[in-house]
Amino acid sequence: ITLYVPRDSAALAVGADQVAERIRAEASARGVEISIIRNGSRGMIWLEPLVEVETDEGRLAYGPVTADQVPSLFDAGFLTGGDHPLAHGPTEDIAFFKRQTRLTFARCGLTDPLSLAAYRAHGGLVGLERALTMTPEAILETVTQSGLRGRGGAGFPTGIKWRTVYEAQGPRKYIVCNADEGDSGTFSDRMIMEGDPFLLLEGMILAGIAVGAEKGYIYLRSEYPHAIDTMNRAIRILKDNNILGDDLLNAHKAFDVEVRVGAGAYVCGEETALLDSLEGKRGVVRAKPPLPAHRGLFGCPTVINNVISLASVPIILAQGADFYRDFGMGRSRGTIPIQLAGNVRHGGLFEAGFGMTLGEIIEEIGGGTASGRPVKAVQVGGPLGAYFPPALFDTPFDYEAFAARDGLIGHAGIVVFDDSVDMLAQARFAFEFCAIESCGKCTPCRIGAVRGVELADKAQSDIAASGDPAPHYAIMRDLCETMKFGSLCALGGFTPYPVLSALNHFPEDFSGEPRRQAAE
Ligand code: NAI
Ligand code: SF4
Repeated sequence: ITLYVPRDSAALAVGADQVAERIRAEASARGVEISIIRNGSRGMIWLEPLVEVETDEGRLAYGPVTADQVPSLFDAGFLTGGDHPLAHGPTEDIAFFKRQTRLTFARCGLTDPLSLAAYRAHGGLVGLERALTMTPEAILETVTQSGLRGRGGAGFPTGIKWRTVYEAQGPRKYIVCNADEGDSGTFSDRMIMEGDPFLLLEGMILAGIAVGAEKGYIYLRSEYPHAIDTMNRAIRILKDNNILGDDLLNAHKAFDVEVRVGAGAYVCGEETALLDSLEGKRGVVRAKPPLPAHRGLFGCPTVINNVISLASVPIILAQGADFYRDFGMGRSRGTIPIQLAGNVRHGGLFEAGFGMTLGEIIEEIGGGTASGRPVKAVQVGGPLGAYFPPALFDTPFDYEAFAARDGLIGHAGIVVFDDSVDMLAQARFAFEFCAIESCGKCTPCRIGAVRGVELADKAQSDIAASGDPAPHYAIMRDLCETMKFGSLCALGGFTPYPVLSALNHFPEDFSGEPRRQAAE
């Protein structure tokens, strides 16, 4: 009997190792032969640790399982599909899972992440094999035609970025994967690296073949020790199988990848600070131009892409550009792994074609708040994303639709807040975050963020003292204008998004009277 117990960090954090151990011990005590595969996560984080049993009816799900509950699962005959209060039936019939379009995450949670045989058996390497029969021009054209845009947040067309590097002149070229995933409420990069590492490596090899690069780096944050370990092992396995190295799949092409570990600075997720850090310097933002595509790592033309951008490419090469661009809406083509976090009932990763409304995602998929109280705000796109009230829940998940409402999709993380959230405190938090994480290179961000915290504090004390906080908000808006247009990079430039959206959509939290009434 085969069981699956995830070794994704989210499952480990809630006791997956102890559950696996207990299952082994219990099976041995009862004389039952089992094998446990440590898979990635299926993305239904609220059900972790999600134990699956392979049966004639397919894989059946039980969760969230604690080690103490394991004997009762055996008593209920879960190894043959027995009923139990933790049973959810076939995993792929769970509504949260069933509604998804899993292209990038198709294998995540399905297979042993480090089994190359399982990777091949489930469609892995088909894109690479096809690409090795194509010219670089044809690969670039396929990626361009697919409509894929950068999943790190900015949504720049991946095919155009690759073509820029392809056409740039340099002694050598590099592929850099941005795996610094610093946004609050985001975990899709981590899930792919822990749950389907060969996919990311295949995407990087494809980028290398397309632009003529022979070396790739994964800049991986130190806060992801399990992803670091899994990626390093996956690289070793691909090298041992001649898929990475001097003679890619015996095709007379070379490509090599190394993992480099960051040291915990949010700004090192900004591409030019990342490149500085990768070169061994302190991570400080560089002025653009030159673009990394022209002069990036060690001054050479460099493709720098987010994990999900690179991991989306193998299926595009395997199934064709039309297959991928058929999903989505407007100029946002393909699928996006939406990450639901914060005060939400069904937190997890939901991959879908672009176009679902924010309301569908929060209410139908997420099931509303975990606390059961009304949703007051959702922050989309990380700590620099705007706060949207339920009045904007008809916004479709699409780069342009969000921008039209002064918001951003960013890396597609959504953090949900119930009606107990204080939006003045959230605005202060945005400034504080920026003040702590600023690289210090430009004044609007370095000084502006500190002034922003002070203004929020002054407003707060005026409210407490029955004064009028309004003058502070006029200065705060002015400051946001300066930061938005005067900052060198998105850290200072996007901090106004959470601040202004909080001010504009939740004025009651900023004015003295309603807050005093609420306090009474
Ligand atoms: P950007 O718009 O300046 O650039 C986007 C990408 O396109 C960059 O790689 C840039 O080098 C490239 N590019 C731009 N013009 C090009 C051209 N003509 N030819 C070739 N390449 C070109 O945006 P930026 O500053 O890189 O990223 C900002 C975004 O980062 C924000 O939208 C935000 O959502 C996101 N972000 C993501 C975080 C995460 O954890 N994933 C954290 C913080 C911000
Ligand atoms: Fe550095 Fe902030 Fe300026 Fe970006 S905006 S370059 S983080 S000081």
